[in-house]
Amino acid sequence: MKILIINGPNLNLLGRREPGIYGNSSMESYLETLRNTYPNYHIDYFQSNHEGDIIDTLHNAGFNGEYAGIVLNAGAYTHTSLAIADAIAAINTPVIEVHISNVHSREEVRHHSMISSVCRGVIAGFGLDSYRLGIEALCKR
Ligand code: DQA
Repeated sequence: MKILIINGPNLNLLGRREPGIYGNSSMESYLETLRNTYPNYHIDYFQSNHEGDIIDTLHNAGFNGEYAGIVLNAGAYTHTSLAIADAIAAINTPVIEVHISNVHSREEVRHHSMISSVCRGVIAGFGLDSYRLGIEALCKR
């Protein structure tokens, strides 16, 4: 089974960015842990700081049945991007929205998600483990 993790803006800085909120681990080392946890799954990873690149990646992954699902942390685009929401609505592959932090316990601007309504579900607040929980949610389907 193939799964695609997509990270949005500033998530290339995991491990260095606000460690009190996002932790000390880089995504690269967490990916190693994830791949060891799920040796039978093929986990691809894409990160971009650019909205259009995220949309192109959703389009490329979303129609051909290659992936069982997509685990998406759209970062701040979660709260602003109707274009990413439209891309998720357009594709066939299921998308799980994940957040490292509990966005609902943070500033009000982070309480609203443009993409939740077009995702299969939402996982937030479990640190990097949110990605693993997203994979679990996809596997149980
Ligand atoms: C985030 C939460 C967003 O509000 C923020 O803009 C991020 C990361 C999270 O994983 O907790 O960049 O998606």
